[in-house]
Amino acid sequence: MSEFTVLDHPLIQHKLTRLRDETTDTKIFREVVDEISSLMAYEITRDVPLTTRKVRTPLGLDADGHFVDGLQLGVVPILRAGLGMIHGILQIVPMAPVGHIGIYRDPDTLEPRDYYCKLPSDSEKRTLIVVDPMLATGGSAIAAINFIKKQGAARIKFNCILAAPEGVAALRAAHPDVSIYAAGLDEKLNDHGYILPGLGDAGDRIFGTK
Ligand code: PRP
Ligand code: URA
Repeated sequence: MSEFTVLDHPLIQHKLTRLRDETTDTKIFREVVDEISSLMAYEITRDVPLTTRKVRTPLGLDADGHFVDGLQLGVVPILRAGLGMIHGILQIVPMAPVGHIGIYRDPDTLEPRDYYCKLPSDSEKRTLIVVDPMLATGGSAIAAINFIKKQGAARIKFNCILAAPEGVAALRAAHPDVSIYAAGLDEKLNDHGYILPGLGDAGDRIFGTK
């Protein structure tokens, strides 16, 4: 069974609370998504392998240096809300290529529908971090990861901001090899597949569409 981790760093928890607050307007919501995404990326990339090489310091001495190989990672936002997390993640891993996968949830059936996919050409060599602020029923994440695996990617992590127990269980069952990271795990879903108490519709709050 895959790992499920709630990132309980106090700064992450503080920012999650700003996102939940209904009085947080679109401008601030977008900024806080950006900030929390950076903080989460910092935690999620903890296991990225390092190569070592000496560097010469201004004192004319060699020091052991540690480098992240630029070829390790890729980031794949699930459109559209996942886009809101990209800038913050790239602040931490600027060399990571960004793939895109377009999926929306049919509002009547809650079934995921895919409409776009463009991944880095060497995805099979990288750990891909699939990002979407919300893991609700899990349908979108499962469909996105099915798609990505079909294109050859083998090492995948899933990064959301808020998860519902239903979505975590479904994603773990469908993709036991994918580690899941969230800032919060909420109580349940309502009849419309919204996370409770949640933070509302992430895409609408990021892009000001409602
Ligand atoms: C939201 C969210 C996830 C999905 C989660 O997207 O950003 O992609 O719902 O729900 P699920 O786990 O039940 O699939 P939505 O379909 O509203 O599209 P949007 O990103 O364009 O707003
Ligand atoms: N998508 C959202 O944006 N919010 C939810 O609560 C569930 C799915």
